[in-house]
Amino acid sequence: MSVRRRTLLKVIVLGDSGVGKTSLMNQYVHNKFSQQYKATIGADFVTKELQIDDKLVTLQIWDTAGQERFQSLGVAFYRGADCCVLVYDVNVMRSFDSLENWHDEFLKQANPADPKSFPFILLGNKIDVDGGNSRVVSEKKAKEWCAAKGNIPYFETSAKEDYNVDPAFLCIAKAALANE
Ligand code: GTP
Ligand code: MG
Repeated sequence: MSVRRRTLLKVIVLGDSGVGKTSLMNQYVHNKFSQQYKATIGADFVTKELQIDDKLVTLQIWDTAGQERFQSLGVAFYRGADCCVLVYDVNVMRSFDSLENWHDEFLKQANPADPKSFPFILLGNKIDVDGGNSRVVSEKKAKEWCAAKGNIPYFETSAKEDYNVDPAFLCIAKAALANE
């Protein structure tokens, strides 16, 4: 009989303030959504157990502060990350423009052995807003950015309507596991 070992996977979620990082995690882990905005201060993690093929993994998902004044993460925080999730709001151009910076800053801080193959995932959140009529970043534009960064997987999500949240995190877990 084989002994099952649990694998701990460290995932870091980054992106501008208000894009929905905390909401996505709450939807994924607790199946809850709140309209009320409460800024994340510093960083905090939640865990979720899941099975991937025949492996039991514990996803340790680190939520971070988008607001600069609440960012207090040292280099040590990023070290040992198995996957980085970048989030933007499809209705806010600035949050898309910031991705480059979040991406580069992560690599600088985490300093992975092979930066070119480090797994990132991009989530374009809040696709429910105004029935999609207020979106300013097209799916095509987002996918072009992902392609330019070495084929980063891309998901369009709604934390509010629980759209595509589970598939996105399953992809995140698989990418983290492959990198582990
Ligand atoms: P910081 O902690 O400041 O970095 O922000 P955050 O990225 O964690 O954003 P948060 O999850 O707190 O969400 C910001 C606001 O957007 C809240 O009022 C949420 O209710 C709302 N929100 C988050 N996701 C969605 C979504 O998918 N659709 C809609 N309509 N609103 C959302
Ligand atoms: Mg937050």
